[in-house]
Amino acid sequence: MSRLRFGLIGAGQIAHISAKSIQSHDAADIVAAHDPNAARLAELCEAFEIPAAYDTADALFQDDGVDAVYIAVPNKYHAPLAQAALEAGKHVILDKPFAMNLAEAEGVAAAAAAAGKVFTLGMNMRFREDSQKVKSLVDAGVLGDIYHAKAFWFRRQGIPRIGTWFGNKELAGGGCLLDIGVHLLDLCLHTMGNFEPVSVSGATYTKFGHRGLGEGGWGKSDREGIPFDVDDFATALIKFANGATVSLDVSWACHAEEHNRNNVHLYGSEAGASLYPAKLFRQDPLRTDYDVIDNLAGDTPMPHGDRFHNFINHILGDEPLCCTVDQALTIQRILDAIYESAQTGREVLIQQPVPA
Ligand SMILES: NC(=O)c1ccc[n+]([C@@H]2O[C@H](COP(=O)([O-])OP(=O)(O)OC[C@H]3O[C@@H](n4cnc5c(N)ncnc54)[C@H](O)[C@@H]3O)[C@@H](O)[C@H]2O)c1
Repeated sequence: MSRLRFGLIGAGQIAHISAKSIQSHDAADIVAAHDPNAARLAELCEAFEIPAAYDTADALFQDDGVDAVYIAVPNKYHAPLAQAALEAGKHVILDKPFAMNLAEAEGVAAAAAAAGKVFTLGMNMRFREDSQKVKSLVDAGVLGDIYHAKAFWFRRQGIPRIGTWFGNKELAGGGCLLDIGVHLLDLCLHTMGNFEPVSVSGATYTKFGHRGLGEGGWGKSDREGIPFDVDDFATALIKFANGATVSLDVSWACHAEEHNRNNVHLYGSEAGASLYPAKLFRQDPLRTDYDVIDNLAGDTPMPHGDRFHNFINHILGDEPLCCTVDQALTIQRILDAIYESAQTGREVLIQQPVPA
């Protein structure tokens, strides 16, 4: 195979950004798309000159001219559509979050293994240049033993369109934790190189969205008056098998000085780091001063900086897949545990999967 032909499922806001990314790869084409909303489907097909617009996802999956499917739809449909695409013999790149819960995600993982097709979750923040630079220093051992990390994404007024699927538990599975918490959690564990959680304590809050407050406007879906019943703030402490801890804080809306702020801070025995922008903190070699290095040198093994390029290069060439299905399952396991802990008020122990 020398080119990869994509079908897109979902023609909402992120699909337009993703289509641009796919078309920026010189060995990829978008040949088909589907969205139940005819107007949004036509808009996407026109904007990116996509030749085939399908009325149903199944019709797209049956198209032999489609090699790979990108799925960007309300969370409720992530797992069923990913599973159906894999069963139809397509490679799949699914937008986050993986699924509504771990059981669904495991179903997709099993379908990918049975089909022998490539499956990934498109965790775009991993690919940023700053993320890659810090990750390369961690991998080289510059930070030593990373014993704590602080990951956060605070939005002051960033709830996606209120009255759409985004704020509804039945359609989205959760709120800010599943929507943007997943990004920072994934980025943090990926950078630390630690995917062995053992326990989670968490709390979630709904303080703004149900009052019609805190909206940021993201999303193309029409407002349908769908009730808001998910978290707009979440916090968690996650413990790992090697004793490390991660604190995670996320908000779609909160009273804060800044409009939008996200980062991962890493605390290691030899140095500390933060990602946005990439910085390293350590004592100078003579131990007479303290260095804050902000013009940070570090490798960027994926200079394209793009989740779609990684997926395409992996299928067509030899670039390692950045986000593996096991890592994506671990993130979903933690997200489930945070919601369980928030509901029960107790720490939740996480079972490590038994190796196959
Ligand atoms: N990676 C990122 O940074 C990022 C950013 C935004 C959104 N997302 C994810 O992408 C997905 C879509 O988000 P969005 O912002 O584009 O939402 P959106 O509301 O703008 O669009 C969703 C689209 O899905 C369509 N749709 C609904 N049910 C469908 C179905 N069964 N089959 C096919 N299409 C269906 C809707 O008609 C709509 O056009 C969500 O899962 C979201 O979490 C990821």
